Amino acid sequence: MGHPARGWYTGIMAKYLVTGCAGFIGSSLVDALVKRGETVRGLDNFETGKRENLDGVVDRMELVEGDLRDADAMVRVCRGVDYVFHTAAVASVPRSVKDPRTSHTANIDGTFNLLEGARAAGVKRAVYSASSSAYGDQPGFPRRETMAPAPISPYAVQKLAGELYMSSFWQVYGLETVNLRYFNIFGPRQDPGSPYSGVMARFSLQMLRGEQPTIFGDGEQGRDFTYIDNVVSANFLAMDAAAEKVAGRVFNIACGEQYTLNETYGALAKLMDFQEPPAYGPSRAGDVRDSLADISAAREAFGYEPLVGFEEGLRRTVAWYREEYGVSSPK
Ligand code: UD1
Repeated sequence: MGHPARGWYTGIMAKYLVTGCAGFIGSSLVDALVKRGETVRGLDNFETGKRENLDGVVDRMELVEGDLRDADAMVRVCRGVDYVFHTAAVASVPRSVKDPRTSHTANIDGTFNLLEGARAAGVKRAVYSASSSAYGDQPGFPRRETMAPAPISPYAVQKLAGELYMSSFWQVYGLETVNLRYFNIFGPRQDPGSPYSGVMARFSLQMLRGEQPTIFGDGEQGRDFTYIDNVVSANFLAMDAAAEKVAGRVFNIACGEQYTLNETYGALAKLMDFQEPPAYGPSRAGDVRDSLADISAAREAFGYEPLVGFEEGLRRTVAWYREEYGVSSPK
């Protein structure tokens, strides 16, 4: 391994392309594909993705280092590919509030570049990692895909623009695309160490280190926290479903249950034997108050069911952070 452009000029055929292959969700998909014996090409620019996320599979895949913002590179990386899982993005609502341009170029221009590459290569289907943030703060729960989007943050706007491009490429070019709107995904490998990390990862590491986590706002905001295995399963089901059921459409991917941040904190603290109460700070700009999915559209179109619930997901996640961060007991 090693050379960044490895695979680009070799003419190797890869059945699957995973963008953001070194990220939390992308690497989980790569693992599952490799386990299934598939030929996989992974793309990452390692801006937020981590090489160690590919440790177990890097010898059994083709790794391409490249950036979504590079249109020519996207044409090359799609060559010979049948199916694309597009997970690459500059994620995080607060990051997009602080620096909207960086995520704008990756999430909108980058998704467009990838679609152009996929179209030129004759890719059969692309499944897109969309975001529940598209619903914004409008009334009406649970969220249904038929609701008009009302994004608040730049990140939410960007991920929604990606969806619209995906659907457009189905409608005008016949490239089969499927949009999966994820609701607060958590689990092993989610980066815990950045101020932009997802809350579950961040709190897990802080509790393990004996640091007091801060809840932004009153902690009564609700989220439909969804364990990573459910997302992997949803991606495969959406990729394999009949085109007439999924092409050009949008689907919520979640558990369909809501927990407040205070409840989540309590559940995590219990599993970690962490005794401290949280600190409370000001609410975050761009935050939505509540989030809860209706998952019946995914269920009906491609048989999606959450495989791992909140409690079991938390247990697995805590076990992983303990193992990975070398802390066997927080006491
Ligand atoms: C949002 C999107 C999600 C998207 C994700 C990408 C919604 C409902 N969800 O998640 O679809 O994929 O961004 O990053 O819009 N918090 C704290 N303390 C912390 C960190 C976070 O209290 O140290 C709070 C946040 O203010 C927020 C909640 O925890 O209220 C969840 O935050 P986070 O994990 O960052 O995800 P969302 O912004 O909800």
